[in-house]
Amino acid sequence: MQIYEGWDSFKNMPIIDKMPYFKHNDNIFDVIYTQQFDRNYLDYLFSLADKIRKIAKNKSGKDFLQTILSDKRALLFFVQPSTRTFLSFLTACQVLGVQTCEIRDPSTSSEVKGESVEDMIRTFSSYVDLIITRHVDEGFAERAAWVLNTHAKRSLPVINAGSGKDEHPTQALLDIYTIQRAYSNKGGISGKNVILVGDLKRGRTVRSLCKLLALYDDIKISFVSPKEFAMREDVLDFLTINKVKFEITDNLKQVLPLADVVYATRLQDEHDAVKGESRLIDLSSFSLQYENLRFMKEDSVIMHPFPRRNEIDVKIDNDKRAHYWKQARNGMWIRIALILKIFQRDKILIDWL
Ligand code: NCD
Repeated sequence: MQIYEGWDSFKNMPIIDKMPYFKHNDNIFDVIYTQQFDRNYLDYLFSLADKIRKIAKNKSGKDFLQTILSDKRALLFFVQPSTRTFLSFLTACQVLGVQTCEIRDPSTSSEVKGESVEDMIRTFSSYVDLIITRHVDEGFAERAAWVLNTHAKRSLPVINAGSGKDEHPTQALLDIYTIQRAYSNKGGISGKNVILVGDLKRGRTVRSLCKLLALYDDIKISFVSPKEFAMREDVLDFLTINKVKFEITDNLKQVLPLADVVYATRLQDEHDAVKGESRLIDLSSFSLQYENLRFMKEDSVIMHPFPRRNEIDVKIDNDKRAHYWKQARNGMWIRIALILKIFQRDKILIDWL
């Protein structure tokens, strides 16, 4: 297989040095790592998403939104399982009038015929204006964006919709947007106690969320997991460098009463080295039961990126503290805002309201 020159040295650069490659005219063009977002960007995206929700409340607003990117086409290249992320990106495109095509089964693409990532991506770029991708290979989205920025004449944005066990930057956006909305009249995100519980070692959503929480003041994170699924060192180092307080525990009951946010995640057993090995670990004390609610703050926020197995008792679903259904819907709105911002069509909305 042909290998494009330069990839190996690019891949090994620190993320901070790679980030400028994914900006065009000072605007984030490719969304690859969560560290690309800063507070200003988040605040702007939240207000844009709120504005879009208002505009979309009636038919004339919806019709208007559909004109904004009706000259664009997007490919959803999702070769790893996905329900919410896929649907929320697809519907986000539909809201903006972006036409879409999709590849979801890797056995139907030319990857199986031995085509290189570079040739495949350049082929995609002949047909569409945006690539949204989820891939088991941690470096796939980065490599796709790199090849388009450095080797192709036609440059188009790439959005990472989940890269292996590593990153899920747009999930982090919807998670932080959900927390911001829940606490908008209660002091905002700063100063909050956040519990992250479950398979923290292999869950990309919690890894990415930590990087956004670090943008706020006085956050405290409790990592709650069995030691086999503890948060990895790279994220802990990131938090230490960014002066975020955290603790590591396996006692959920003890930390629950102080929590403002409880974010549960499932066992990521698709990443087991030996199939079924992680099922041997007892996770029963790492799930939220209905009885636990009475020990929790009245206005705490319970979240889950989904899919859920038994991390949150379904009896909790109707409690006002359950935010996971809102969380899924917030995903569509914040992705609409993100796509608008990437194409720099966001200013069109200023005149509308
Ligand atoms: C998550 C993912 O794919 O990382 N799901 C999602 O995108 N909402 C979480 C998971 O699969 O556990």
